[in-house]
Amino acid sequence: MVKKKTCVFISGYGSNLKNLISYSRDNSFPINISLVISNKKEAHGLIYAKKYKIPYIFIDTKFKNYENKIFFNLKKYKISFICLAGYMKIISKNLIKNYQRKIINIHPSLLPKFKGLDTFSRMLNNREKKAGCTVHYVNEKLDSGSIILQKNFEIEKNDNEKILKYKTQKLEYRAFPEAIVKIFRKN
Ligand code: GAR
Repeated sequence: MVKKKTCVFISGYGSNLKNLISYSRDNSFPINISLVISNKKEAHGLIYAKKYKIPYIFIDTKFKNYENKIFFNLKKYKISFICLAGYMKIISKNLIKNYQRKIINIHPSLLPKFKGLDTFSRMLNNREKKAGCTVHYVNEKLDSGSIILQKNFEIEKNDNEKILKYKTQKLEYRAFPEAIVKIFRKN
């Protein structure tokens, strides 16, 4: 099997990146993590790129031409698939156009509920019964592309934001790889 050369975009801790790297080391997993892009110089997740000798770059989105740097590197590393794993920046229309249905994102809620930020506090305020995560294609509208896979759990009485995040991320570590397998099984 020829693995898809994949770039993972991160902004922070990188636990989903770490998880995807670990899956991708299996020969039967459809993608190989060939590049990591971070919009934060100090993103903790970059240690996983370093540890596993995966090329990584920092993109300073303050600069007007930052997108050229992204395109240049996606081309350089022959990237054909993109995973957003805690990337807290809107992806440009141009990038979406060039990678139609080739960019996926993981989001910590059961979309279409709770798009955007602060998902857990909003869920608690709303007295939601269920929480979970969604893997979806990225389109021009925030957290609105078609859904590939969701996993959910029941919110318990004593759950607070921290606990919801912990439970959600545990599900994310299964949902993201499963969604990737599902995508490439179809093709
Ligand atoms: C993940 O829980 C992901 O769902 C969320 O950021 C976290 C990143 O954690 N993404 C979003 O909120 C996107 N809107 P990680 O850096 O440890 O993988």
